[in-house]
Amino acid sequence: MTVQETTSTQSVNNAGVDSPEALAYRAALDVIGAVEPAVADHIRGELGNQRSQLKLIASENYASPAVLLAMGNWFSDKYAEGTPGHRFYAGCEYVDKVERLAVDHAKALFGADYAYVQPHSGIDANLVAFWAILAHRVEAPFLVDHEAKHVNDLSATDWEELRQSFGNQRMIGMALNAGGHLTHGFRPNISGKLFDQRSYGVDHTTEMLDYDQVAATAREFKPLVLVAGYSAYPRKVDFAKMREIADEVGATLMVDMAHFAGLVAGGVFTGDFDPIPNAHIVTSTTHKSLRGPRGGIVLSNEADLVEFVDKGCPMVLGGPLSNVMAAKAVAFSEARQPEFKTYAQQVTDNAAALAEGIAKRGGRIVTGGTDNHLVLVDVQPFGLTGRQAESSLEAAGVIVNRNSIPFDTNGAWYTSGIRLGTPALTTVGMDTSDMDEVADIICGVLRSTEPVPTKAGEPSKAHFDLDDGVRNDQRARAAELLAQNPLYPTIGQL
Ligand SMILES: Cc1ncc(COP(=O)(O)O)c(C=O)c1O
Repeated sequence: MTVQETTSTQSVNNAGVDSPEALAYRAALDVIGAVEPAVADHIRGELGNQRSQLKLIASENYASPAVLLAMGNWFSDKYAEGTPGHRFYAGCEYVDKVERLAVDHAKALFGADYAYVQPHSGIDANLVAFWAILAHRVEAPFLVDHEAKHVNDLSATDWEELRQSFGNQRMIGMALNAGGHLTHGFRPNISGKLFDQRSYGVDHTTEMLDYDQVAATAREFKPLVLVAGYSAYPRKVDFAKMREIADEVGATLMVDMAHFAGLVAGGVFTGDFDPIPNAHIVTSTTHKSLRGPRGGIVLSNEADLVEFVDKGCPMVLGGPLSNVMAAKAVAFSEARQPEFKTYAQQVTDNAAALAEGIAKRGGRIVTGGTDNHLVLVDVQPFGLTGRQAESSLEAAGVIVNRNSIPFDTNGAWYTSGIRLGTPALTTVGMDTSDMDEVADIICGVLRSTEPVPTKAGEPSKAHFDLDDGVRNDQRARAAELLAQNPLYPTIGQL
């Protein structure tokens, strides 16, 4: 039984009675449809689409019906700025209870002393962490120096000096084309506008994280913050080594585990590879491999840092989404069950099987393999750009995203790679033999995809041709796999 099927495995039991999930969603769609039928139709359409495609987006998953239902209720109506027991609004009795529950589950799940469950997304969790670090390392000592208790006590001149010093801080993070994330100090994101950033990357030959380069950059640049974590690096990271580097240069080590939080929760990444005991502060999304609602979280074991994290609202967040905190509590509770450990291990086993299946069919796997939930495939051996590969696979019912590979010469829009992830397909119950079939489908499509020139006869990085017969065959094979491993079987047809 897969973890999404917590109460039953079918939408109708042997006596012909609908499952609670089927009843709940049918009733919900009736209620929504009575007000705006188009929205009910689009919700049904989305389920239909998700059920008819092999989802290999590394950052997506399928949350359980319990998690999804916990979001759709009147907790959404309540304002609750502040923290449990210290709100700026009255009437927060049950928000306090649900937030405390989510916090307690998160602390137990990750073995952290402190958890903050209010961030609305991963980007917000990172903003909370950056500003907590700035408050702890820049603002707090400034206030002490100026014998002030609060920023409102500073003179206009002192306040201007403090404001300037926020903008004079440095950060290092993983380069985008090595697998880093925009929120780790890149110019299109606020983190890049705030911090002076330098990147570290991967070794040219092995494509593995180059710790010597991290250390050399840190020694030369002396950042306030060293960010570790990634969205497209297929290997585990030695966070103990990153902490040594951070300590040597006096940086705060922040780990963004948005992608691999499920592998930390599920005990796949332990010891030096577990960010919680090694980093000063850890951020995450809750909706990727962790399989919760869309949202963010911040964890820490540093007593002197967490008081600033608690000020995330109103520092960078508005009122917390209490309905989403309720869903986080449900998801963290699910992740504390023994089945989640089995799931997390299966996610990595499946990724390894997928990488091996693609490699043996002629694909080039960046770094030669994977230690986590994702596989980065260089599609140049198929004569394609990432954009062509992504579109051709979509036509055959396989959903992936194009992605830069290390030292990519095709730019961030077209790219030379595709990123595949196994969290979603593992949730529906697929195993390593299914991954071999998925690899065969993917390589069958890529081998039969031909780049075609534009109408003007120019070479194109986007246009392609996929033989109709191949497309239909591979689509049928994908549909067969999905029929054997249905999505939300307890919900049935709506
Ligand atoms: C490493 C990393 N951090 C942060 C984020 C941002 O998460 P969200 O989309 O929830 O803001 C992502 C999402 O892609 C990510 O991969």
